[in-house]
Amino acid sequence: MTTQTAQYKPQHLHIAPSILSADFAKLGAEVKAIEAAGADWVHFDVMDNHYVPNLTIGPLVCEAIRPHVSIPIDVHLMVEPVDALIPLFAKAGANIITFHPEASKHIDRTLSLIIEHGCKAGLVFNPATPLSLMDHVMDKLDVVLLMSVNPGFGGQKFIPETLNKLREARAKIDAYTAATGKTILLEVDGGVKVDNIQEIVSAGADVCVAGSAVFSAPDTDGGYTTIMRNLRAQVG
Ligand code: DX5
Ligand code: ZN
Repeated sequence: MTTQTAQYKPQHLHIAPSILSADFAKLGAEVKAIEAAGADWVHFDVMDNHYVPNLTIGPLVCEAIRPHVSIPIDVHLMVEPVDALIPLFAKAGANIITFHPEASKHIDRTLSLIIEHGCKAGLVFNPATPLSLMDHVMDKLDVVLLMSVNPGFGGQKFIPETLNKLREARAKIDAYTAATGKTILLEVDGGVKVDNIQEIVSAGADVCVAGSAVFSAPDTDGGYTTIMRNLRAQVG
């Protein structure tokens, strides 16, 4: 379904570089550099070689980078089961924890657990996961994350159907906010680049994750300032 709405403009575009594409041999310096370049959040991809076919980083690495930045750490859990990791990430300094509803037997319970541990909570929707899964838990959501690639790897191509899904999610969130006053940020993850960020944000995104776009950019200005500036400049 294509839902046409006016061009969306967030109050503030959040850019969340995914450290999946960073140099893991110097992660502390990498996160410091993206914060200095104007990143809003550090996007932290957790993969378990079970829910997704890749294996990455866990709470120990989150704890290790925490002292290097003051911006929020946005932990994207691509793991199954989910619940046991939540207290560990909260203790390791995570600020936002999102998970895939397919990976939890009790979505409402998992969201409550995240909130009880003092973090912001969010659900992640794979390209084929219906948005209706958020319908009865919106009061517990701070973030709705739409995957614009299938989860598991950085450097994949943006799936264009995500634009329609973003418009649908935007309409749901706006209706909920109008009725309750509660703010929910709409985040998009996968294949975000300088040449498509404008249409992604116009379709409704508040937060853009960008992994390879940021960390493969030439390291000019002593950091990632140029690429961050270029991403924002597309949106105006
Ligand atoms: C994919 C991860 C993404 C990924 C984004 O499963 O959740 O966060 O690292 O990387 P790019 O921006 O390179 O698609
Ligand atoms: Zn991610």
